[in-house]
Amino acid sequence: MSRMTGLDLYSIPIASPGKMKTTKFHQQESNEMKLQNKVAIVTGAAMGIGQGIASVFGREGAKLVLADVNIPEGQKTTSELKKRGVEAFFVECDVSKEDPVKVLVATAIEKYGTIHILVNNAGIGFYKTVLETTSEEWDHCLGINLKGAFLCSKYAIPHIQAAGGGSIINIASVHSYQNSSREAAYAASKGGLLALTRQMAIDYGKDKIRVNAICPGWIYTPNVQRIFDRYPDPAKFRQEVEKRQLLGRIGTIEDVGEAAAFLASDESSYMTGSSLMVDNGMTALLESW
Ligand code: NAI
Repeated sequence: MSRMTGLDLYSIPIASPGKMKTTKFHQQESNEMKLQNKVAIVTGAAMGIGQGIASVFGREGAKLVLADVNIPEGQKTTSELKKRGVEAFFVECDVSKEDPVKVLVATAIEKYGTIHILVNNAGIGFYKTVLETTSEEWDHCLGINLKGAFLCSKYAIPHIQAAGGGSIINIASVHSYQNSSREAAYAASKGGLLALTRQMAIDYGKDKIRVNAICPGWIYTPNVQRIFDRYPDPAKFRQEVEKRQLLGRIGTIEDVGEAAAFLASDESSYMTGSSLMVDNGMTALLESW
């Protein structure tokens, strides 16, 4: 879809009805694809939010590089996408380590010749106070959640520059803005990710590289199921979480995927250095009693 000028505002094309969407791997009937022929790397794409982003990007016509440490799940997700006609391949990559990240980017270039979009999604939850956290645990959490985004950006940016610009999306968190108890390393990593988002937006705007963050609230993923499983009655705890959501439900991986597709596409061409809350109003609500 072409970009609109102010004069076009009263002739916005209405999205064609009947665009078919399923809840897991989307299918598309319309030929209006937001990311046609764009090459996108998505980290942590084997499952959870990264899988949802890969799924929506595939529906929108992107050629995908899925990166993850989980080889069987990464291959499974990739073959599901390929079955639906999406061009995709999987690379085993621990984003916290420099050499595997170099291999990831080199493989993307070898296969597709260019990179337009990078989604720094790979991340782990880690819930301890400063006194409880060892320095190894701190390095592990910050290594994946923050250094991983630094490394992937460092090696992908020269190719995005060479492509004439593109979009980097960092999956941060509501915990970038507000903390709960015992999450020292996690909150620090997600706060740092927003600072890195702003910094890269400033430094690479001249190259037409837009850098934005998404801050999800409760999104149902294997990671969140692990949180529910810590409670004596996980199903009941999930219901309690759902009841507290302004819109009465927990988010899906596609909710984040749609927001990422928007930030990756020209639809968000005036956005950089920003963070998009996909949190069901979680950070808007001041708890009162
Ligand atoms: P998840 O645990 O369900 O999936 C994470 C994926 O990242 C997995 O496939 C895992 O194998 C991969 N991964 C882990 N370490 C890696 C490494 N070193 N290198 C490459 N891949 C690695 O997690 P979920 O929930 O999908 O989270 C994804 C991102 O979204 C994380 O950055 C998380 O902090 C963030 N987030 C998630 C929320 C939620 O409610 N699910 C809320 C706010 C933020």
